[in-house]
Amino acid sequence: MYKIAVVPGDGTGPEVVVEGLKALDAVAKKVGFKYETNEFDFGGDRYLRTNEVLPETAVDDLRGFNAIYLGAIGHPDVQPGILEKGILLKLRFELDQYINLRPVKLYPNVDTPLKDKGPEEIDFVVVRENTEGIYTGAGGFFKKGTPDEVAVQESINTRKGVERCLRYAFDYTRRRKKENTLTLCGKTNVLTFAFDLWERAFHEVGAADYPEIKRDYAHVDAICMWMVKNPEWFDVIVTDNIFGDIITDLGAMIQGGMGIAAGGNINPEGVSMFEPIGGSAPKYTGQNIINPIAAIGACQLLIDTLGEEEGARILENAIVSTVAKLDSMQAGQMGYSTSEVGDLVAQAVADA
Ligand code: IPM
Ligand code: MN
Repeated sequence: MYKIAVVPGDGTGPEVVVEGLKALDAVAKKVGFKYETNEFDFGGDRYLRTNEVLPETAVDDLRGFNAIYLGAIGHPDVQPGILEKGILLKLRFELDQYINLRPVKLYPNVDTPLKDKGPEEIDFVVVRENTEGIYTGAGGFFKKGTPDEVAVQESINTRKGVERCLRYAFDYTRRRKKENTLTLCGKTNVLTFAFDLWERAFHEVGAADYPEIKRDYAHVDAICMWMVKNPEWFDVIVTDNIFGDIITDLGAMIQGGMGIAAGGNINPEGVSMFEPIGGSAPKYTGQNIINPIAAIGACQLLIDTLGEEEGARILENAIVSTVAKLDSMQAGQMGYSTSEVGDLVAQAVADA
């Protein structure tokens, strides 16, 4: 019996989570596993009501689950940063979800803005370090609000944190069995401390324990160029927190947009959290027009991480057959409502 924590969150989060849970139910029936869900009301509405971003017990409560399924965090009436840092980043950090796994995969019959590129060319995975870098909050102000103001925001890179991320990426590349190539994305020409550590660890770990994995390197700016021009060059990319944040939005666009892109915040030794990467999209809230495929894809990653590989495969096939029926991946232009898309996926799972 799997215990799944569900955090629908803000904006369109709750609508898309409902569709992901439909898919989860269909998969559980199909392959025969049992699960129970517990809902948590973390998000902007709760904060506006109670003035508390996250209850004190939240992190410990969540530790008792096999996985967390998250809709979206971000509310138009709450100042940017409060919920993102107080809920999303806090959970990633406190639960030590040190990997943010973001597949960039173009499914057949989905439009990409890249001319002459198709599913053959767009199929790679970004492994983003998820608990360090510029996201730790290290730094501060000096003489804030004066003409002499100074703001410092430091990037923290620990050998241990970098190495565990690299090892995960090497292992993932090995398991994936595609091109056996891991590309480190950095900025060794300017960030000569942080990416010096990354680069040394990359080659040391790779040479010692993953000799059969080819090691490649690209600067982050160049990788943005190659992701557009030659996405077929990539198998697995590993990078730090902020570069991973940036390049995965680019990745989302080439795989069909925010309606499709899903990710997992993974603690391989603990509890992981899965989410569509598109955010709360408040302007579409409550209209039943947002694309739930990203959230359903997050559910597929969740099922896979539980170890239900057959279920995950069935769900991915259901996603593939469903996206082929949609007019577009954009909200309001799918030719189906949010709930109808969820029904199509659940039906495809049942029929598999
Ligand atoms: C993401 C988001 C978050 C991040 C924000 C909401 C804090 O952009 O998951 O990519 O920067 O990690
Ligand atoms: Mn982001």
